[in-house]
Amino acid sequence: MSNSTSSDSWGSRVGLILAMAGNAVGLGNFLRFPVQAVNNGGGAFIIPYLVCFLLMGIPLLWIEWSSGRFGGKSGHHSTPFVLDSMDKRQFWKYIGVFGIFTNVAVAAYYCYIESWTMAYVYHSISGTFSGLNQGQVADFFTRYIDVSHSTTGIPYEAVIFYVFCLALNTFILSRGLHGVERAAKIGMPLLILFGIVLAIRGLTLGDSGATPEHPDANAFEGLNFLWTPQFDSLTNPKVWLAAAGQIFFTLSVGMGTVQCYASYVRSRDDIALNAVSAGFMNEFVEVVLGSLIVIPIAAGYLGVDWLKENAGFGMAFQTMPYLFQQWGPALSVFAGVMWFGLLFFAGITSSLAMGTPWMGFMRDEFGFSRNKGAWTFGAVVLALGLPTVFFYQQGVFDEYDYWAGTVSLVVFALAETILFAWIFGMDKGWKEINEGGDIKVPLIYKYIIKWVTPLLLLFVFVGSLVTPKNNDWVNALNNGWELDNSSIIKQITNTGLKEQITAATDPAIITALEDKMFYVSLARFILLALFIGLSFLVYLAYKRRKAEGRIT
Ligand code: TRP
Repeated sequence: MSNSTSSDSWGSRVGLILAMAGNAVGLGNFLRFPVQAVNNGGGAFIIPYLVCFLLMGIPLLWIEWSSGRFGGKSGHHSTPFVLDSMDKRQFWKYIGVFGIFTNVAVAAYYCYIESWTMAYVYHSISGTFSGLNQGQVADFFTRYIDVSHSTTGIPYEAVIFYVFCLALNTFILSRGLHGVERAAKIGMPLLILFGIVLAIRGLTLGDSGATPEHPDANAFEGLNFLWTPQFDSLTNPKVWLAAAGQIFFTLSVGMGTVQCYASYVRSRDDIALNAVSAGFMNEFVEVVLGSLIVIPIAAGYLGVDWLKENAGFGMAFQTMPYLFQQWGPALSVFAGVMWFGLLFFAGITSSLAMGTPWMGFMRDEFGFSRNKGAWTFGAVVLALGLPTVFFYQQGVFDEYDYWAGTVSLVVFALAETILFAWIFGMDKGWKEINEGGDIKVPLIYKYIIKWVTPLLLLFVFVGSLVTPKNNDWVNALNNGWELDNSSIIKQITNTGLKEQITAATDPAIITALEDKMFYVSLARFILLALFIGLSFLVYLAYKRRKAEGRIT
């Protein structure tokens, strides 16, 4: 078949790299990375993290860029038929469903956080936070997301910003790749600029933020905590799992987005160098900028101990606007706009990427126009996203994040690596990676991709499936390998939640937990329905191809 969508391709190399980097650089770099690092022992996290980047992240980038460009040659722009073009077995296209599913499901909750960043830019400018104390700034967030403070049970402001944010995404997507490229060209430089300004503040704060309340506050201690490597962490599987999870999320690998973007790369253009360039750009933003803002600023005013106890989502939305107040009325507005503006740009260049696999698929298979592709994406995401807005506190958001933003990435990455290295074959694969390359990929990566990456992925998958109790891997065998509640198997059966219900005595708490159980099941039902629905579309597409004689 000729490439019916060849009119769609990247405008320039800079545009492509910025769009790919924009896809990778996201809320994960500024919100997830610092939290993961702090919760996994700071310096203990960094080494496994960097090892995972080199042995899993970079190889997956090459696999995905080259599979994408390969599929694009025969007019495929989403993973079901990209994978299908790599092997004759029929089931690969259903594995490829993951590469649309993840994007749609993640977009649903991701755009919700993205909409918070918009709301916070607005509130920073309008001075909502000025004069508030730490508790009051924190309360603002709680009220913003909470349905119970509104008489109608609708968190109006949150809904309005969410719908607006989705509409903006949809509108840009309706402009096709051109719109995505433009957004990255504007958003990425601004993000880096804002990031550098805030990072300079983080680096120069020192102990000037110490107060009688927090006499030990010192920004450098935050940095030391993060940057003092601890080699004993190398033997702790828990830290490895967390590090691998972060590498997946931050590089946007195992999601199908990289393949989609790469499928619009012309067949003779470089991918070997582009893939590493975009990957390293993401690492710069994550490891340098991502670690020089929240951590030192929070440690600089509240101390490292506070940081260790309070690491979480709240730091960015509940604490930062308060800390900015310490810089005086004018600078605090400026800092608020930069911080939430940076998060917004990081978010939108990623959420736009999440729209492209769906659009590519519907266009390739069902002839959807860009407009139709974009608005149907917006509508599906809205339907999936409203439950996260309304039932945020009942755990719908976390449930989406767990299944679509964590587990499915690993499953898909493992499958595609096996396909690429073992079925498509490493010799062919190696040729694909290097074809048109502006660098020669070091030969050792041929072996890493064939052996190390799949083994590492297998370890991550099995390790998450059967995480032993209390993450105690050393004694796991002696303990009969009792499973931890965080293991996938125990998650499926909601063991942790059930234990909480049994242990609770307060009827109000029991009701709340039972509610939660209901919403968790609802979230799973929605996700499952999405997966089945997408698989059905793939099946229809396959039937059409067959009827039209496009499959031999
Ligand atoms: N990498 C992004 C971040 O760090 C998240 C992201 C981008 C993503 N594209 C994705 C997550 C596709 C899931 C699916 O925030």
